[in-house]
Amino acid sequence: MPNAPIRTAVFPVAGYGTRFLPATKAMAKEMLTVVDKPLIQYGLEEAMAAGITRFVLVTGRGKQAIEDHFDLAYELQATLKARGKEAAVAEITDYLPPPGAIHYVRQREALGLGHAVWCARELAGEAPFAVVSPDDLVLSRTACLKQLVDAYETLGGNLTAVMDVPRADTARYGVLATPDPDSRTPRVDGLVEKPAPEAAPSTLSIIGRYILQPEIFEELGRHERSVGGEIQLTDAMAALIGRQPFHGLRFEGERFDCGTKDGWLAANIAYALADPARRAAAAATVRRFAAELDRD
Ligand code: UTP
Repeated sequence: MPNAPIRTAVFPVAGYGTRFLPATKAMAKEMLTVVDKPLIQYGLEEAMAAGITRFVLVTGRGKQAIEDHFDLAYELQATLKARGKEAAVAEITDYLPPPGAIHYVRQREALGLGHAVWCARELAGEAPFAVVSPDDLVLSRTACLKQLVDAYETLGGNLTAVMDVPRADTARYGVLATPDPDSRTPRVDGLVEKPAPEAAPSTLSIIGRYILQPEIFEELGRHERSVGGEIQLTDAMAALIGRQPFHGLRFEGERFDCGTKDGWLAANIAYALADPARRAAAAATVRRFAAELDRD
């Protein structure tokens, strides 16, 4: 029997973004822009490229700008039209999914990524679904989630995007235990959240892209807190190992952790250089600063 298609993606956007203060004091982290688009727009566009038609955003207080970004801006649109700025009108409307395709649910308390995903259970339903953390950006030829969906068609079960990290950094990630660490789709035997480098079972680390089976909600419903006092998604995923197929996918592309200031800065440079309209100006700026650094 073919694997059920992935049509729903859950976007957890209720976190406090404490690593990006003061920017995130009064604005949603997911509205931070990389060049000219907010992180959440990149997330939805990536999901659309993967065939997703139903978008579930788990939001919280102070995140209204996200809903506004996916609504019409009548006054602005009318003004732009009256001024003949059709290209600008396209820029504020082209990315909008069809009416009714986005669903919002509030997490109420930021108890962790696992809890945020659990809050989407009624909207995600009984089918397998994707999870996209919008603060992880992946610059790639093929949308990262599309790569996962393609791999899922053959492998089924649960899948997570993984990348090799320096051993010194494992304490920042969920890390795989796997019998075939060199495979493109390593089988997952175990998952450890934020292990110390000496305790890490491998250096293959999870980034914010997943395909999960609906049984994950039973596990998340236990509300077990672990690392950092949070309800972790990795703990619930670990409980599915052995019951369902579970693989990592070494994706093609470069991932930027835009939840950190350094990752966000790097993403801005990389995305500007990758954009034909920005490349020349961005390259000139990078060269100027590089020359200054060489003189230091
Ligand atoms: P992070 O752990 O990076 O987000 O979660 P955070 O907690 O906002 O950031 P810091 O650590 O305080 O800087 C990744 C994604 O999960 C969401 C975040 O909004 C982000 O998009 N998230 C996290 C939730 O929706 N709810 C939570 O309880 C935690």
